[in-house]
Amino acid sequence: MQLKDKVAIITGAGAGIGRACCLLFAAEGAKVVAVDLDPAALSSVAEDVRRTGVTVLTVQADVSFAADVERIVSVASENVSAIHILFNNAGIVPHGKIHETTEADWDRTMAVNVKSMYLMSRAVVPIFLKHGGGVILNTSSATALRSVVDRAAYSASKGAVIALTKSMAIDYVRDGIRVNCLCPGTIDTPSLQRRLAAFADPEEARKQFVARQPMGRLGTAEEVAKAALFLVSEDAKFVTGAVFSIDGGFTV
Ligand SMILES: NC(=O)c1ccc[n+]([C@@H]2O[C@H](COP(=O)([O-])OP(=O)(O)OC[C@H]3O[C@@H](n4cnc5c(N)ncnc54)[C@H](O)[C@@H]3O)[C@@H](O)[C@H]2O)c1
Repeated sequence: MQLKDKVAIITGAGAGIGRACCLLFAAEGAKVVAVDLDPAALSSVAEDVRRTGVTVLTVQADVSFAADVERIVSVASENVSAIHILFNNAGIVPHGKIHETTEADWDRTMAVNVKSMYLMSRAVVPIFLKHGGGVILNTSSATALRSVVDRAAYSASKGAVIALTKSMAIDYVRDGIRVNCLCPGTIDTPSLQRRLAAFADPEEARKQFVARQPMGRLGTAEEVAKAALFLVSEDAKFVTGAVFSIDGGFTV
């Protein structure tokens, strides 16, 4: 019960890494506020958490919009006694080199992958400051550390997440607020499955993704959730500004 009596907001909670974190954090005693754009995904994860006998609060919202973020934090504040953990995990993975990336795709990528973290943190940090601290975890990516083809806007957005994480870590280091980020490698989630399905030969594409993995396999959302649990737990109380790779050796 590493998160007993803690309240954790998780964005992108409906699928993949966010979903696995909802289940693990709830199993570890946290009250989870699950946020996602997709109402069906949100109901499904909430049902799975409730089946374990734990309550979960759901908020359907787009974390790239300030009004939605204000609503998330006001719904959370009305329903839970405090907020201890913010996991900024929602993200999208646009495909393409820079000359193939439309301005709309660029703007949307930055809005969902980076601006959302600014908006959520801007809303939650004053609560942390008032209550003497808190923990923020941001999801970056291995592609911010090692380049892969056709991920220009995505990699730029995830590089910004690392810089934002470090800036926030130093800004709040004396306020009891720890800020870290995760850099997952290729993880077998619905996002990856959609990306594979877009190839002419999805099976061959999967083989190529696996072939570039030093460990010879993809990661699982559950493995990433265990790293996230460590970083948001008291076990990591001396850890801030960390860029935590979980990629099966991809960036070694
Ligand atoms: N899967 C990977 O290989 C991988 C690798 C590195 C980093 N990541 C990062 O991990 C995070 C989660 O990825 P995943 O693979 O679990 O993705 P996923 O697509 O499987 O799940 C992401 C969830 O976020 C939600 N979401 C998307 N945009 C949103 C928005 N604007 N507001 C609220 N919710 C929104 C989606 O509805 C979905 O339920 C992302 O930030 C992604 O960039 C994933």
